[in-house]
Amino acid sequence: MGKIHYKELGLVNTREMFANAMKGQYAIPAYNFNNLEQLQAIVLGCIESKSPFILQVSSGARKYANPILLRHLALGAVEMIKSANSPVRFALHLDHGDTPALAANCIDSGFSSVMIDGSHHPYEENIRITREVVEYAHKNDVSVEGELGVLAGIEDDVVAAKSIYTQPEQVEDFVKRTGVDSLAISIGTSPGACKFKPSQCTRDERGVLVPPPLRFDILEEIERRIPGFPIVLHGASSVIPQYVEMINKFGGNIEDAVGIPVEQLRRAARSAVCKVNIDSDGRLAVTATIRKVLFETPAEFDPRKYLGPAREELKKVVIQKNMDVLGSAGKA
Ligand code: G3H
Ligand code: 13P
Repeated sequence: MGKIHYKELGLVNTREMFANAMKGQYAIPAYNFNNLEQLQAIVLGCIESKSPFILQVSSGARKYANPILLRHLALGAVEMIKSANSPVRFALHLDHGDTPALAANCIDSGFSSVMIDGSHHPYEENIRITREVVEYAHKNDVSVEGELGVLAGIEDDVVAAKSIYTQPEQVEDFVKRTGVDSLAISIGTSPGACKFKPSQCTRDERGVLVPPPLRFDILEEIERRIPGFPIVLHGASSVIPQYVEMINKFGGNIEDAVGIPVEQLRRAARSAVCKVNIDSDGRLAVTATIRKVLFETPAEFDPRKYLGPAREELKKVVIQKNMDVLGSAGKA
């Protein structure tokens, strides 16, 4: 595959988006995608709510969608936005890049932003690989997200084990020595639909699991140490109960699903958190809708008849997140 620069595709990096989000006290949504229907829903939802956005791709998603096709899908999304006369702009971002080689490969194939997740490595090694990615990325005007602290929310001892949260005393040194443009931190979120074990939660009067609150004290200390620096929150789906119920009602079985309460996400979006990652809520909306359609119309076998409604439901989730949770609606 030949090299291409993201500007040739009509994409933007995250610099201006984050500066505006910081000033305006909102957060940019970063939606994961793997296929055509998810892409359509994200793009149309962001056009309709006039929200800047980040389209993010994990290494698994890149393999699934095919790297060559992905470049053309991004270009197609740019053209679709233009033809709608919309001011919306987006960044194409590598989510959880694990090696400098993968990050470089994405940069060479048109990504405008990359994450290098060295958080599982010892601190000095995290700095070394992050610095290596920054050097190549900045030559190409590509933004880089690094990570400090491990998102291990579903491990038994997450609440007790302080070491997995980001240690605020490391952030200034990390940001200075790596040159990253944004920093993913760990304050109690984690990826997936079952973010905490029931033993880590309390229950409300209806028996619904209530997760331990996010560590806003850590976030505030980080903000104090690196004022005005863009912070990223991974694992930030609220795990919308309506979709979990639909999945379970129509033949699925997701037990003990629990996400981050919307109020806490709103609070984070008003802080230095400039990017909020959302994958699971979209997956739940799509799966719940497909299950419902197939359950109610068992003779249906035209994929458009279940993928279409699933796409529509995901678009609703995107609009609702942009408007009511992140505050990015109308900021394009
Ligand atoms: O944090 C992980 C994202 O939700 C992407 O998940 O690796 O299954 O594509 P994936
Ligand atoms: P959720 O699983 O909470 O949607 O988080 C996704 C994520 O952080 C992708 O990097």
